[in-house]
Amino acid sequence: MIEEVVERLNMIKMPGSIGIGHTRWATHGAPEMVNAHPHVDCTGRLAVVHNGVIENFMELKEELINRGHNFTSKTDTEIIAHLIEEELKGDLRLDDAILKALRVLEGSYAIAVVSLDNPKKIYCARNESPLVLGHSELGSFCASDIPAMLPYSKNVVYLRNGEFAELDEDGLSIRLVEDGSPVSREYTEINWNIEMAEKQGYPHFMLKEIYEQPVSLRNALRLQQRYLDLLTTFLDRGQDLFLIAAGTSYYACLAASYLFSKIARLTTFPAVSSEFVEQYGSSLGIDSVVLALSQSGETYDTLQAIEYARMRAATVLGVTNTVFSSLSRRARAYISQQSGPEIGVAATKTFTSQILVLLQLALRLAITRGKISQDDGDELEAKMIQVPDFVQSVLDRHGESIGALARKYLDSRLFIFLGRGISSATAMEGRLKLLELTYVPSLAYPAGESKHGPISVVEDGVPVIFLCPRGETRKSIVGSIMEMKARGARIISVCEEGDAEIISLSDDVIEMPRNIPEALSPIPYIVPLQLFAYHFAVQKGLDPDKPRNLAKSVTVP
Ligand code: AGP
Repeated sequence: MIEEVVERLNMIKMPGSIGIGHTRWATHGAPEMVNAHPHVDCTGRLAVVHNGVIENFMELKEELINRGHNFTSKTDTEIIAHLIEEELKGDLRLDDAILKALRVLEGSYAIAVVSLDNPKKIYCARNESPLVLGHSELGSFCASDIPAMLPYSKNVVYLRNGEFAELDEDGLSIRLVEDGSPVSREYTEINWNIEMAEKQGYPHFMLKEIYEQPVSLRNALRLQQRYLDLLTTFLDRGQDLFLIAAGTSYYACLAASYLFSKIARLTTFPAVSSEFVEQYGSSLGIDSVVLALSQSGETYDTLQAIEYARMRAATVLGVTNTVFSSLSRRARAYISQQSGPEIGVAATKTFTSQILVLLQLALRLAITRGKISQDDGDELEAKMIQVPDFVQSVLDRHGESIGALARKYLDSRLFIFLGRGISSATAMEGRLKLLELTYVPSLAYPAGESKHGPISVVEDGVPVIFLCPRGETRKSIVGSIMEMKARGARIISVCEEGDAEIISLSDDVIEMPRNIPEALSPIPYIVPLQLFAYHFAVQKGLDPDKPRNLAKSVTVP
């Protein structure tokens, strides 16, 4: 707790008029004292705090070590301090040295720098990670978000990507990182109360987190290569690969099982953690690999399952959003998905990032095993990089209109979600969102299976939501739509923009960007379903952040 730190270090009585600090969400290096911010250069004269992920930190670190710099932490942040130190060895002023150092950084950052060489100033910069600046009679301030700023200043400036600022007691000035040219920006007055501010102006954490997905997905594309390599090596060595998780994380496993099969030609066994030991326990051995997914890294069933797997000498791997969680401590190797904190009980941004992480693993494995041609691999990678933009365009286009769609179906007493292939995982996750937030009974099935039973509940007016990305499964989904339509269902389709056939068969359509490969479709296609569940809950007068009977992390049997 920040209050504890303030008290223990007696910070109020500390001499001086400037300071920087950062509550770290561990991305590189465990949450230990040695990795805590600020980080300093070799001289100890310059200190940096940083929120974000520096992609090229390994290369930069090696270069700096070769030039004689000593590193004390495992963070990516520390390289920033040493880079500035290196630039200062020339004749540059401190501000110019910082600007020069920033120009070689790749990735996301919001930073604040202080130096004994100019003890009255704080220098800040931003690329992708948020940073707000403020000024009042109390002084000048910078913070990641408005809640931290509010007690000190209601007049704020949102620093934009590629901007650098200098703060002192008189105010602030902004320049472009690129060429150092000055930028003029008006202050905005913030009239939010603290609760609104914590949600950054969104009415609920869930909506904020849905809208954060373009950024969290970009961070998921910036994973540390050596950990991806390490996991790929373990996956490659294993004989049987089990993908285990609970709830939403399980649906990410389900989607991943299609990805491993299609991209890496590898058979995997997705299983819910609570069933895993019963279902597969006896077949586990030294050649088994168990890849566990857990946002929190603390889900009881998942931890129990990996304990069992470890006991049978299987290799346990993890993907989690919580570095140093029980899962990351127990896994032989793990990847931190870097989605940032998720407060809403319903998982949203962590689901899309989990899939993106597993997609990268599948692609790597395919390349390692020679299961994908160079052209196909390059093409998939090029599309993968566009995923955050696909999601952004879905949010731009449907962010508001899905509210009206939810209103239209507010009286429905049953929903059915159907998809084929990898979209059956999207359908199940879409159903889970609606179910947990609105308590409206609903079913989700692979569309082909719907005729083996679920179709019996379809009658006049029952809404059936179809996931219909373009690709191998689209043709058969048309058949399923016809079957449901013939029984009076109201068809809501999530399909590619301009897909005339699907549109003509549907009562309502959510049109998605063109040219999204089917393998990538769960990520953008789940977004309108997250929004649908959210708006449905709000319009029913329910709190989407706190659904009844549910906890964010289920740590009990
Ligand atoms: C999803 O919206 C739920 N809150 C829940 O199903 C969740 O995904 C499940 O409890 C697993 O949690 P984990 O990813 O932290 O292990």
